[in-house]
Amino acid sequence: MIEMKNITKVYQVGESRVEALKGIDLSINEGEFVAIMGASGSGKSTLLSIAGCLDIPTSGRYVIDGKDVSLLSDDELSLLRNEKIGFVFQAFHLLPRFNAQENVELPLIYKGTPKDERKERATNCLEQVGLRHRLLHSSSELSGGEQQRVAIARALVNSPRLILADEPTGNLDSTSAEEIMDIFCKLNEEKKMTVVIITHNQAVAERTKRTCHLKDGQIVDEGI
Ligand SMILES: Nc1ncnc2c1ncn2[C@@H]1O[C@H](COP(=O)(O)OP(=O)(O)OP(=O)(O)O)[C@@H](O)[C@H]1O
Ligand SMILES: [Mg+2]
Repeated sequence: MIEMKNITKVYQVGESRVEALKGIDLSINEGEFVAIMGASGSGKSTLLSIAGCLDIPTSGRYVIDGKDVSLLSDDELSLLRNEKIGFVFQAFHLLPRFNAQENVELPLIYKGTPKDERKERATNCLEQVGLRHRLLHSSSELSGGEQQRVAIARALVNSPRLILADEPTGNLDSTSAEEIMDIFCKLNEEKKMTVVIITHNQAVAERTKRTCHLKDGQIVDEGI
């Protein structure tokens, strides 16, 4: 699913160069459930942005689902992101005045999916994350854990094969964090989705099947 060869990422800020990634070799197979750990600033989010085609590497080769990313046009990249990848972030990024169902429908509205189908798919995804009873609540009327579950439902609405999550439990108490991990485990085991999670939390990493450790822009332990 993910094949990175000697990936580097250099940020140029004014006069200074930041080498965020220094030659990453990483393979993640379809159906894996992987945690990425490492100190703050070690390059985890940079790695995930490149994995999700939200950013491009400075050098190296990245092949996702058999496609060499450097050969794809911007349109092809955004199609790949929309169809194949579900993103989940630490801050839930829900639209505050929209209810849960409308938030989940958003990616389908962008695609022009008809209203009835949108509603059915959003309801179905919210059911998968245990929020069938919260369809019409706006995000301000939901707990943090519930908001993150809405964000996961939104990530699922295009039936992606790959879920990329950057500290999805970072803002949550340990009980809500466990509920979120229950959902990721279920998606991996029952729906056979490939799931990659960045976390600072050992308990979260232990729920996955493999942990990669990053240090100063390099992988120090691939976890296999
Ligand atoms: N857009 C950017 N421009 C310049 N430098 C950046 C940019 N994004 C990240 N960096 C730098 O790249 C390095 C890696 O950042 P990154 O966000 O990937 O770390 P991280 O492991 O996700 O850290 P954290 O655990 O704090 O989220 C850091 O030194 C950071 O300052
Ligand atoms: Mg980060």
